[in-house]
Amino acid sequence: MCGIVGHTGRRDIIAALVEGLEKLEYRGYDSAGIALAESGGLKTVRSVGRISRLREKLAGIVTDARCGIGHTRWATHGKPTEVNCHPHLSFGRRFAVVHNGIIENCRELRALCEDRGISPVSDTDSELIAHLLEFNYEGDPLRAVRKTADMLTGSFAVAALLADFPDEIYALRRTSPLLIGVGRGYTCLASDGCALEADCVYSLGDGQYARLTPSGAEFYSRGRRVSPRKIPPFDAAHCVRGGYEHFMLKEICEQPEAAARTVEALSGRRLRGRLLMIGCGSSYHAALSALPLAERATGKAACATTAGEFLCSEKTDGRGRTAVLISQSGETADTVAAAEEAARRGYSALAVANVPRSSLTRVCRRSVLTHAGPEISVATTKGFTSQAAALSAMLAPPPLAEEVRRLPFAIERALNCDGDASAAARLLKADKAAFFIGRKSDLGTALEGALKLREITYIPAFGLSAGELKHGSIALIEEGTPVVLVHTDPQLKDKSLLTAATVRARGGRVIAVTPDDEVAAAADLALRIPAVHPLLSPAVAVVPLQLLAYRAAVALGRDVDKPRNLAKSVTVE
Ligand code: M6R
Repeated sequence: MCGIVGHTGRRDIIAALVEGLEKLEYRGYDSAGIALAESGGLKTVRSVGRISRLREKLAGIVTDARCGIGHTRWATHGKPTEVNCHPHLSFGRRFAVVHNGIIENCRELRALCEDRGISPVSDTDSELIAHLLEFNYEGDPLRAVRKTADMLTGSFAVAALLADFPDEIYALRRTSPLLIGVGRGYTCLASDGCALEADCVYSLGDGQYARLTPSGAEFYSRGRRVSPRKIPPFDAAHCVRGGYEHFMLKEICEQPEAAARTVEALSGRRLRGRLLMIGCGSSYHAALSALPLAERATGKAACATTAGEFLCSEKTDGRGRTAVLISQSGETADTVAAAEEAARRGYSALAVANVPRSSLTRVCRRSVLTHAGPEISVATTKGFTSQAAALSAMLAPPPLAEEVRRLPFAIERALNCDGDASAAARLLKADKAAFFIGRKSDLGTALEGALKLREITYIPAFGLSAGELKHGSIALIEEGTPVVLVHTDPQLKDKSLLTAATVRARGGRVIAVTPDDEVAAAADLALRIPAVHPLLSPAVAVVPLQLLAYRAAVALGRDVDKPRNLAKSVTVE
């Protein structure tokens, strides 16, 4: 989703801003822009589309600015047009503003601007912040920032330039993350550690605001100066592709280590009692794939649902139950809202997140971390496997503990099927539907495989329970229709063999993901995986599906790491 960068004290200000924005590209965006605090006033340069287009617009621009802010926008309020693109200028061109998040009272604020004779030029909620800052400015920038923050409801991370103080940046945040870095002779900020290069990195606390100058940053809360909270520097190795063609492939290959770190960190943690597991997208699939293990471990019925559905479900009493909120980013708005709602309904809320000190870990009473490391590709891979590994580590009964510890090795062996995944990818056609089916623990894996293929190849891919195929969807199976059958549970072998035969009898091409010889033989093509306990299989069985989607996307020439319309973390409900 949207990304923010800012620098003060840089001679190479345009390069610093654009390089920062490029590091945020992975989050997904549809337009980008920068604002410069020049001696003659504030100047903005904005463009729709990729950062490379912004670069072209900036070529040849000479500036005396040493301070500026930049933004990548993922459209929510208003289309991806240049006028909606950030930074936004205030009516008197005194302030330039970039904003992440959603201002919930934007209608009232728009009316307030109009009452004061200002007609916003864009459709965005963000532009209103710039006007409010100028309304509230009477010579003291920090006072204006504080007054403005008090007028906003919703979530925001904001960076602002003020023409009167051309070497300062003002930052404010509520809920949406914002980090501040101090280097030698310059100070910077970013919404994501990936875009910060600094000796010391601080997190701007929730509800705090700050003034950045070339020599450092001052942090404030409710009119008082406060001590900043230092955080460990971001591991820049995660931001470089390091010889891989795409971040997605790099992250697929990092899965054994990610799972090993996660299992190591969580062994000894136990999930007990009646569980409701909640997530969105792949995190929901991780929840679904862990459901049979949760029921085996607790001996009680468990449930998995999407955060969006939980939010609109009946407000039943959750007392005595644990809600497990799963999220790679920890910033997914639906999941964060579901955590708050779960607490209101009486559940004990536990976050399983990959990003420490994220919004989700803040709102949940307890949290555990997966240890995938930063994930850059929009399509999650190591994020999913480390969630599956985390749930396995916390749920597996003692006799399976050793198997859990061996999961990273099984994941490593599953990577060997890359060659077969390329062959399987050739069975997929850009405009023809593909099916992903499985039962029990394999259902969540199958749904994840379908999502992976859909999101990076745009092939219409359906994930469903293998038992459901005959209840309607089989109507779509014709000569050559690819059906990916995930089979890991020996007890379900007869059912899987029957399903394979049923599909092939209608001309469908079965691609089996399985450790089982017989099921492999019953398929047109097999992606062989090592045998692990079926309840622990999702972290392993998903690997060939990721490779299948990846190879298909490369063959189709898709933008693998930045699929159309998608954002890395969906911070709007
Ligand atoms: O950061 P989260 O795990 O909360 O994200 C949830 C989904 O938005 C995410 O898994 C999404 O479905 C991915 N694009 C899947 O690859």
